[in-house]
Amino acid sequence: MENVNDYIVDVFKKRYTCKGYDPEKKVSDKDFNTIMEIARLSPSSMGFEPWKFVLLRNKKVLDEIRPIAWGAQAAIDGASHIVLILSRNPKDMEPGSEYLEYIQNEIQNYPPEELAKRKERYKSFQKSDFDLNTERTLFDWISKQSYIPLANMLTVAAMLGIDSTPMEGFDREKLHEIFSKNGVYDPEHFKISTLIAFGYTNRTHREKTRRPMEEVFEVFE
Ligand SMILES: Cc1cc2nc3c(=O)[nH]c(=O)nc-3n(C[C@H](O)[C@H](O)[C@H](O)COP(=O)(O)O)c2cc1C
Repeated sequence: MENVNDYIVDVFKKRYTCKGYDPEKKVSDKDFNTIMEIARLSPSSMGFEPWKFVLLRNKKVLDEIRPIAWGAQAAIDGASHIVLILSRNPKDMEPGSEYLEYIQNEIQNYPPEELAKRKERYKSFQKSDFDLNTERTLFDWISKQSYIPLANMLTVAAMLGIDSTPMEGFDREKLHEIFSKNGVYDPEHFKISTLIAFGYTNRTHREKTRRPMEEVFEVFE
C-alpha cells in the first residue's frame, strides 16, 4: 500500500458483513485479545464506559437463542467468537448511582474540584441538554455508546484480516430472558445492546454498496 490514507480506505472497503463462517477456522487468542483491547479503549460520553462484553462460548445457550436470533444464525453455526455487547441499566447511570460513583471516584482520576463540576454538569446534561428523562430515552442514550466499541471492533478485525458480523437481528426481550435465566449477566445491571461475531468466511460476499460521497457529505460555508 502506497500510503496510510490508501491503506485506511482499503481496510474499510474490504470490511463487509460476513454471512457464513468456516467452523474449522479459529481466530487466534492474540488477535481476539487485540480486538477486545480496542473495545476497552473506545471512547464514551463523559467517559462512563457504560458497557460490558461477554464472549459466548456456551453451546447450550447459543443453541437456545438460535431460533429467535434470526440475524445471528450464520454466526452461531460457524463463527469462531461471538461477543455479546451489554449496556448498563438506566438506574446505574442516574447521577450518584453506585456505578457512577465508582467510575468517577476510582477510575477517572479528576482532581476533586473538577470532579464536583463534572458531576453537576452530568445532572444538567441528563435532565435538560439531552432530555434523558424517561427510562427509554436514557437507555437509548446508554446503548448508543456501545456502538462505538462495536464499530472499532469491526474495523480492527478487518485490519487483522478477520471477518465479522455486527448483529441486532433478534427479539431483545426474549434474548434477555434466556441470558438472564442462564446467568450470562446480571439483569439488575445490564441489558442487551448488540452481538458481534468474528471468524473466517466460507463464501464470497456480494459487492459493497454505498451512496455516493456528494449525497452523504456537504460543506456549509
Ligand atoms: C448495528 C447493526 C446491526 C446489524 N445487524 C445484522 C444482523 O443481525 N445480521 C446480519 O447478518 N447483518 C447485520 N448487520 C449488517 C448490515 O446489514 C450491513 O452492515 C450493511 O448491509 C452494510 O453491509 P456491509 O457491512 O457488508 O458493508 C448489522 C449492521 C449493523 C451496523
